[in-house]
Amino acid sequence: MDSIVVTGNGPLRGEIPIAGAKNACLALMPATLLTEEPLILTNAPRLSDIRTMSLLLESLGADSAALQEGQVLALSSHSLSSTRADYDIVRKMRASNLVLGPLLAREGHAEVSLPGGCAIGARPMDLHQDGLEALGAEIELRDGYLHARAPGGLRGARIALRFPSVGATENIVMAATLAKGTTVLENAAREPEIVDLVRCLRAMGAQIEGEGTSRIEIQGVERLGGATHRVVADRIELGTYMLAPAIAGGDVECVGGEIDLVRAFADKLEATGVSVEPTDRGVRVRKAPDARVRAVDVTTEVFPGFPTDLQAQMMALLTTAEGVSTLHETIFENRFMHAPELMRMGADIEVHGGTATVTGVPGLKGAPVMATDLRASVSLILAGLAAEGETVVNRVYHLDRGYEHVVGKLSGVGAKIERIRGA
Ligand code: EPZ
Repeated sequence: MDSIVVTGNGPLRGEIPIAGAKNACLALMPATLLTEEPLILTNAPRLSDIRTMSLLLESLGADSAALQEGQVLALSSHSLSSTRADYDIVRKMRASNLVLGPLLAREGHAEVSLPGGCAIGARPMDLHQDGLEALGAEIELRDGYLHARAPGGLRGARIALRFPSVGATENIVMAATLAKGTTVLENAAREPEIVDLVRCLRAMGAQIEGEGTSRIEIQGVERLGGATHRVVADRIELGTYMLAPAIAGGDVECVGGEIDLVRAFADKLEATGVSVEPTDRGVRVRKAPDARVRAVDVTTEVFPGFPTDLQAQMMALLTTAEGVSTLHETIFENRFMHAPELMRMGADIEVHGGTATVTGVPGLKGAPVMATDLRASVSLILAGLAAEGETVVNRVYHLDRGYEHVVGKLSGVGAKIERIRGA
């Protein structure tokens, strides 16, 4: 397994390009199942999760071609040969469950493995199931698979989600585009990835209103056509790289992201004393190399609140803040696995249930550490940027799921970082 070696190397300067959003692309790709015509996605990120989704779609009989070094995905599902999403794919990537709604709408049945637990939590699918059953699907759990069928087709319904689940919103909205009649989804997720998916579905001929609000209304149509859609910028990658100059000091412009995608995070980052400035190309972040940031309290919330996917990265910054910070993780039940690894670098963190208390220390020391999940792995790299000496982050396959060219992007602004091929 490969590892990444990062050595504290002083302030960072320059530009970091922000790619298309992994979590938007993973919802957009299954939308190809809703039409027999081609769906072209541009600004697609080059990530292992995207390749996994391509393999899944191909296993269903769709075509998925990565053009222009993977930045353009040409998808088409003219005729499907299977409606089964196998456990061995779904367990590796939960987002595989986003083929459930489209397959039900297109073929009237689907067999999708339950993803099983992952490092950060149990991650059930009850909200997906309840919503699709409200649209008329009959869903039975058997052998670890959700066996779903809608022999008479799906019909519109009023659905109120107990929790604004991102994935459940995506599955329900995609299924409802081809249901007979009107669907009203209350307490829908409001994430920018939902907005991006709806914009693409609308370009395909879907009739949807209310994206980005808690109430989405879908008028079912007979069929959808193809489209060409540009994937929205990745707000989690943007927030992650905004933290690089905040942690190491310096002056970096993140190009291609826009501040409205990360407003709650940006406000919290500014509260630590870091300069955050929107530019016409993205977001510029500055922090004097020898200044210590101030401690702040963070609570993760659904959008537009502080994103859970930036909690680990923010903790890395707060380990060297002046004062005591508390981080409340309210979305997932086990998302502090980066804490013990940061403690190996000298951080002072106490975790009690969903709350981590971080007492800032003057500086961290490099150490060998272990990546446990996607966002935890990048938080360790961020910590290594300012640590004294060398930090070796192992199991970086987690990183490849969600961050393209991390070494290239960070060394491009002066970081001392390299990837070591493992056995
Ligand atoms: C999406 O996951 C993202 N993944 C996650 O990003 C992100 O952390 C999460 O949304 C929250 O923003 C993709 O978009 C591919 P949820 P998703 O359904 O859709 C519970 C990353 O690092 N829940 O909003 O799975 C669930 O257990 C990944 O890029 C149910 O109880 O998130 C969790 O506690 C990690 N029943 C909470 O809701 C359900 O049926 C949020 O889950 C579904 C979810």
